[in-house]
Amino acid sequence: MMTNDIKWWQKSVVYQVYPKSFNDSNNDGIGDIPGINQKLDYLKKLGVDIIWLNPIYMSPQIDNGYDISNYRKINPILGTDEEFDTLLKSAHKLGIKIILDLVVNHTSSEYPWFKDAIKSKDSKYHDYYIWKNGKKGELPNNWGSSFGGTTWEYVDKLGQYYLHLFAKEQPDLNWENPEVRKDVYDIMKFWLNKGIDGFRMDVISLISKDPKYPDGPLVQNRKLGSYYAGAANGPKVHEYLQEMNREVLSKYNVMTVGETPHTSSKEGVLYADASRNELNMVFHFDHMHLDYGKYGKYSDKRFKLVDLKRVLTEWQNAMYEHNGWNSLYWSNHDQARPVTRFGDDDGEYRTQSAKMLGTILHMQQGTPFVFEGEELGMTNAKYNSIDDYTDLETFNTYHRFIDQYNLSKKFTMRSIYLKSRDNARTPMPWDGSENAGFSESKPWIKMNPNYKEINVKNALDDKDSVFYYYQKLIKLRHDLPIVTTGKYELLDKDNPDTYCYLRKGENETLFVAGNFTVENQTVKLPKFNDDGEKIISNFSAPNKFNGDNLDLPPYGTVVYLFSSKT
Ligand code: NOJ
Repeated sequence: MMTNDIKWWQKSVVYQVYPKSFNDSNNDGIGDIPGINQKLDYLKKLGVDIIWLNPIYMSPQIDNGYDISNYRKINPILGTDEEFDTLLKSAHKLGIKIILDLVVNHTSSEYPWFKDAIKSKDSKYHDYYIWKNGKKGELPNNWGSSFGGTTWEYVDKLGQYYLHLFAKEQPDLNWENPEVRKDVYDIMKFWLNKGIDGFRMDVISLISKDPKYPDGPLVQNRKLGSYYAGAANGPKVHEYLQEMNREVLSKYNVMTVGETPHTSSKEGVLYADASRNELNMVFHFDHMHLDYGKYGKYSDKRFKLVDLKRVLTEWQNAMYEHNGWNSLYWSNHDQARPVTRFGDDDGEYRTQSAKMLGTILHMQQGTPFVFEGEELGMTNAKYNSIDDYTDLETFNTYHRFIDQYNLSKKFTMRSIYLKSRDNARTPMPWDGSENAGFSESKPWIKMNPNYKEINVKNALDDKDSVFYYYQKLIKLRHDLPIVTTGKYELLDKDNPDTYCYLRKGENETLFVAGNFTVENQTVKLPKFNDDGEKIISNFSAPNKFNGDNLDLPPYGTVVYLFSSKT
């Protein structure tokens, strides 16, 4: 990749803000838009280039905003339309861009289109959704929804079922209908014309369904079939995205990242190959699936490093070969905290492992996403009681495990402790005071119990904190073009303890190493003609290095820049 071909979003780092949990300016216990505005200086200090906001639109909040009832209005619990405009302006003034979540696989059942659609088969909006005729009790197929139960909801008055891949309050839109697509493009233009800088597109790989609606296989011990074969990467998804690009995206200088569940790297490049004019990058789930167990996501299985290296390498290579671009992420609002999942959790090496994970991710080729609190090395919340959790996926899993599968409460709670989406949704701990400086009222979701230790104030007061380490990682991406352009090459792929790779430039090479264990490890380096210069490390690694073997302490990490090829 040549340096002058680089697009702005390729040398950027994105920070994901979960608005309800970031900062509460009006002290109602819920984070809000003015609250984000108050913390822009913090984000500027960290050095990020782009903020991604989870949905901020009107919504009954059945799924925390992923059920939208008005696409053009800010949810009053988060602020006003004017407050969003102010945020956008202030961010732009600081040189920070803002991208929004585009949730158009489904709407809320409270959205006027659906409210009309459900009234009569003659409604103009009826065909905006996916309906199947049927007798009550005879489901159109065996699909199970992501949140449990069937994907079909029967409407007595119409004698029809409508499809919802998620909650029944999230009916799927019928993308086959050109009017739907046109209306979606109008919504996109509304926000782009306001000056936003792009979109993260929710479950965009699911918008085109197999018209046969085939039964899906029974997986993960579920009683209902998986909808993925019939709904993920469906027959027209690329046609739709190319149309969206033509009609909307190509007219703006913006970035797009599509969330693409159940998409292999082979399919992933079809979305992100620049010459196909669809999306800039996708969020794949391959590394998120490595610790799935017998019952799917909620399990107490730990990932294996060799597998992690394999899947990340596969995506690095696929995007490089196919003119695409990777998104790089360890976590988001749906996932566990990376330190708990891939590092030492709240053990002796919490901060060391947080820095190591940051290094391994940020030195890869792609656009890194930092989820709020990751820059503090936050851990999972581990609430004692199921009553402290708020997320519908967590509740549904709890009941499925205990009532349907007869699994023990101990295993169920352990799986929830490791995987609940609420682990990522605890309020941002700004300091050690009551409610952590997040709000003066009781937050909508409980604080992580360890917020007195892990908080922004402590991080900013400690020059060795994870925060300052992330600040440095982000700056390296801005300062060293090779971090954006270098070709990735995995080293020692079968080593179960360490992750080492190169980034190869025209005349220079980065060597990146991380120890994923609590033991000392020695890693091997290829031969270089000169000494490597240390550019970042979480231990007292030699400033200059050239040799065959390098020692890493527990969760140690180091990056050397060689001004030569291997
Ligand atoms: C993916 C989002 O990230 C998740 O939070 C949401 O529940 C589903 N899509 C449904 O919109």
